[in-house]
Amino acid sequence: MGKLDGRVAIVTGAATGLGRGIAMLYAAEGADVAVLDRNGPGAEAVAKAIRALGRRSFPVQVDVSDEASVKIAIAAAIEALGPPDILVNNAGIATVSLLEDMQTAMWDEMIRVNLSSVFFCTRAVLPHMRARQYGRIINISSQLAHKGGEGMAHYAAAKAGVLGLTRSLAYEVTRDNIAVNAICPGPLLTDMRLPPEWAAKKQNELVIGRQGRVEEVAPTALLLATEEAAFYVGATFNPNGGDIMI
Ligand SMILES: NC(=O)c1ccc[n+]([C@@H]2O[C@H](COP(=O)([O-])OP(=O)(O)OC[C@H]3O[C@@H](n4cnc5c(N)ncnc54)[C@H](O)[C@@H]3O)[C@@H](O)[C@H]2O)c1
Repeated sequence: MGKLDGRVAIVTGAATGLGRGIAMLYAAEGADVAVLDRNGPGAEAVAKAIRALGRRSFPVQVDVSDEASVKIAIAAAIEALGPPDILVNNAGIATVSLLEDMQTAMWDEMIRVNLSSVFFCTRAVLPHMRARQYGRIINISSQLAHKGGEGMAHYAAAKAGVLGLTRSLAYEVTRDNIAVNAICPGPLLTDMRLPPEWAAKKQNELVIGRQGRVEEVAPTALLLATEEAAFYVGATFNPNGGDIMI
C-alpha cells in the first residue's frame, strides 16, 4: 500500500532537481505522474523512470510561464492520466543581480517563471479538483521569501508572492477539500546554481553547515500530498538547515 495509491499528480519542473525527486517519490508511493518541464528530453527520462516503477507517466514539454502553453499541457496531461488530485508548482529559475543594475527583462522573466506560472497552472487544475471535491496543491517557494537575499530581490519578491497566493487561495478552496500549502526550502544541491561566492557565504549562514539534499525536502511534499494533509491550510513548511528558524 502506497500513500498515494490511485492518485494522479502533476509536477512542474520535474525533469531535474527537487521536482524530479518529488515526482519519483510520488510514483514510488503509488501515484501516476505527469512530468511537466521546458526540458523535453529530461521530462521523457523521468517519465521512463516512473514507468519502470510500474506507474503511468506522461512527459510534457512546456514553458510554465506561458499561459497558452500551460492550458494545452495540462489538458494533454489530463487526457493521458485523468483529472489531477495533486499539483506541485515547482518549476523555477534563479538569477542574481543587484537591484540597481537589474534589467527589467530579468525582473519580468523572474516574475513570470517563478510566480505567474503558479497562477497559470493552479487555475488550469482547479475546476477539475473542485468537480471531484478533492485536491492537494503544493507550491515550492524558498527561504528567501522570508529572509531576502543580496542580489535576489526579484527572486525573493516572486517567492514571497507565492506565499501570498498560497494563503489567499486557501481561503477560496479549502472547503472544497483542496489543501493548498507551501514549502520554503533552504539551499539545495541541485542544478540550480548560484555564483560560487554567493553559495559559499550562504553555506556559512546555515546552522547545519551544509546545503540540503532533495531527499530531505521531497518527504514534506509527500506529506502535503496525502489525504492526512487536510488540516494544513495555507501553511508554510521550512526545511532549510536552520537558515531561518520559523
Ligand atoms: N536549489 C535551491 O537551493 C532551492 C532553494 C529554495 C527553493 N528552490 C526552489 O525549488 C524549485 C526547484 O528548483 P531546483 O533546485 O530543483 O532547480 P533545478 O534547476 O534543478 O530544477 C528546476 C526545473 O524547472 C524547470 N524549469 C525552469 N523554468 C521552467 C519553465 N519556464 N517552464 C518549465 N520548466 C521550467 C527546469 O528545466 C528544471 O528542470 C524552484 O522553484 C526553486 O526556486 C530551490
